[in-house]
Amino acid sequence: MIVKIYLLFGAQYAYNLRQELFWGPKMSYFRENIENTPGYTPGFQPAGADVVKLNTNENPYPASPKVLEAIRNVSSERLRRYPNPLGDEFRLAAAEMLGVSADNIICTKGGDELLSICFRAFCDDNRPVAYPAPTYSLYPVLAQLQNCRRVEVDFGPDFSLPKELANTNAALTIVCNPNAPTATFIKPEDLRELAKKLDGKSILLIDEAYVDFAGTDCVELVCDFDNVIILRSMSKGYSLAGLRFGYGIACRKLIDGLRKVKDSYNVDAVGVAAATAALKDRDYFRKNVEKVKADRTRLTEELRRLGFTVTDSRANFVLAQHEGAGGIYRKLAERNIYVRYFDMPHLSDKLRITVGTNRQNDKIIGALKEIISR
Ligand SMILES: Cc1ncc(COP(=O)(O)O)c(C=O)c1O
Repeated sequence: MIVKIYLLFGAQYAYNLRQELFWGPKMSYFRENIENTPGYTPGFQPAGADVVKLNTNENPYPASPKVLEAIRNVSSERLRRYPNPLGDEFRLAAAEMLGVSADNIICTKGGDELLSICFRAFCDDNRPVAYPAPTYSLYPVLAQLQNCRRVEVDFGPDFSLPKELANTNAALTIVCNPNAPTATFIKPEDLRELAKKLDGKSILLIDEAYVDFAGTDCVELVCDFDNVIILRSMSKGYSLAGLRFGYGIACRKLIDGLRKVKDSYNVDAVGVAAATAALKDRDYFRKNVEKVKADRTRLTEELRRLGFTVTDSRANFVLAQHEGAGGIYRKLAERNIYVRYFDMPHLSDKLRITVGTNRQNDKIIGALKEIISR
């Protein structure tokens, strides 16, 4: 009988079956919380030249030419050696730009690595995380990996800061500002109030991945509070999503603690050279951001003209509500136009659309006109 099964289904399957029959279901090698999480689902990365890709909030314009020059100039000697463990060249440039000290900065492999470091540093099964919802879908995944309880506080209909966030007893409180996927913005004064209320009780991590398109930020708070960490990304305003570079800003004591948790060489020599060149080219950065903001205004107006309800965006994407959003999403995908659709409470009637180039925005608007008029 066992021999027949071997022949029919292959050795591995029959081995597993025999183990289950005789010994019961095999234990998982993973911790229970890891076994039970589906993990993060990154936005789809379609291939092909004629694809209009507006689903992962990349910048539609290229990075500064100085970035490629900096990459070309990385010597083989610099590659032979381990990199500077703290990315000093970048920290110095960022400190000068922000008016803080280099000791207030930690370089990370994208903003996502800073999130992961913060979960590992502050959360466990007795130390929950809190955040307003809906927000960045990576937070609940990191909470599950860290086996910590999540306190999700619903945003009200106007997406202002929920008052209950100050009373959750969480060890880590995260506010994404501008928020993804709503594109809405909370005034820095409101976050200052929250930082004050959480002082001595909780870390306040302000995720500013999209702040380059917002016009104002919360960096001042790190000088006044020892419980505030600001997350920044080079993926959006600096057009470097492929490089994987981000950083955190906080008081020195917090930065010293976060350094203990990061990998020893978490940012590499090429990344540091490229990110520093991008950060230093201020003129290019400003022009790039202004172009995206102008395209955002036009995209928002066109969508509203088509009958979508669109919140005022302070990011490089818009959240557009329309009846039958799920169907519209699928019909766009059939035309090789990709946006993001979240089939979940608060979001199932909306599409998150990254601001593209004028040509890409014209394409999606043209397709939406056709789809909606049918
Ligand atoms: C809200 C938010 N935070 C952080 C990140 C992480 O950005 P990255 O790791 O590309 O720097 C993203 C990426 O899309 C994001 O949407």
